[in-house]
Amino acid sequence: TNDISILAIESSCDETSASIIVNGKVLNNIVATQSVHEKYGGVVPELASRAHQENLIPVIHEAISTSGISKEQLTAVAFTRGPGLMGSLLVGVSFAKAFARALDIPLIDVNHMQAHVLAHFIEDPKPSFPFICLTVSGGHTQLVLVRDYLDMEVIGETQDDAVGEAFDKTAKLLGLPYPGGPLVDQYAKEGNPKAFAFPVTRMPGLNYSFSGIKTAVLYFLRDQLQENPNFIGENLPDLCASIQYTLIEMLLIKLKDAVKQYGVREIAIAGGVSANSGLRATLTELARRKGWNLYIPKFEYCTDNAAMIAMAAHYKYLKGEFVGMDVTPLAKMKF
Ligand code: KG4
Ligand code: ZN
Repeated sequence: TNDISILAIESSCDETSASIIVNGKVLNNIVATQSVHEKYGGVVPELASRAHQENLIPVIHEAISTSGISKEQLTAVAFTRGPGLMGSLLVGVSFAKAFARALDIPLIDVNHMQAHVLAHFIEDPKPSFPFICLTVSGGHTQLVLVRDYLDMEVIGETQDDAVGEAFDKTAKLLGLPYPGGPLVDQYAKEGNPKAFAFPVTRMPGLNYSFSGIKTAVLYFLRDQLQENPNFIGENLPDLCASIQYTLIEMLLIKLKDAVKQYGVREIAIAGGVSANSGLRATLTELARRKGWNLYIPKFEYCTDNAAMIAMAAHYKYLKGEFVGMDVTPLAKMKF
């Protein structure tokens, strides 16, 4: 047959994932989340690569065995080349090379950030080109102008912390466990977003900076706690709502600027932080007011996953974009 059947592997950070895609249709998306990092309050690179080493074969085995096709029917194997943690990437790349060699099939390298954007093509409704994608997660914050499946440009990005990092680090200051983003979201629902004012950092152009809010919250809490040791406990919902409000403001100011600058009304959002209910509600309302078409993928495809790597690999396969056995992972990787 002429089917295009690809095994895709994601191992850039702390999720080990495998997916099978046949003729552009994702058949499954198996994800093993690493819990070893929780007690350290962040991803520990060395522990992440060890956990990938343990999880990868079972995850791939499950992806193949639940797909209904045999490994001999695969026509290519794809992997995340970067950006990500070098030790984590190496586990996926090494497996993919060995697998491609053993089955004598081509190898496809995928850019993780490009894949986050292409997650929008896994299911309907799909955005039409050109669109602007705001990719927000624990590792990335980018505004991407997407002209075609494999033709995209970063038009703005964070110069320091990612927005998810800002959620997690401020949550830590409030005494919340890692990752604190979802908890801030929960508490914020009961709080007043205008209770406390934190500074909105404005970077030149369409770029972001999220490191300032961490310091602002740190000093604010230090001063308040001197007067009232129970300040956090007594104000947790208001604190969460105010921090979240500030972060959403910062995200949307630049998104609005980008829309103005490029005259595009197809707007997409991707990455783990797009699960944030405040961001979803504010963005939905903004889109309604401005007449934008807004696209938010299923949460499963927002967080790190191999289905998005598979989607990207499919388009690269169609263009014959393969790599040789000498390919190496890239901790930093541009489009
Ligand atoms: O995409 P993701 O699963 O992993 C990468 O970082 O690549 O994103 C995880 C990030 C974490 O910082 C987490 O705190 C944040 O997404 N996050 C949230 C919410 N759900 C996940 N932040 C705010 N509100 C949420 N509901
Ligand atoms: Zn990611």
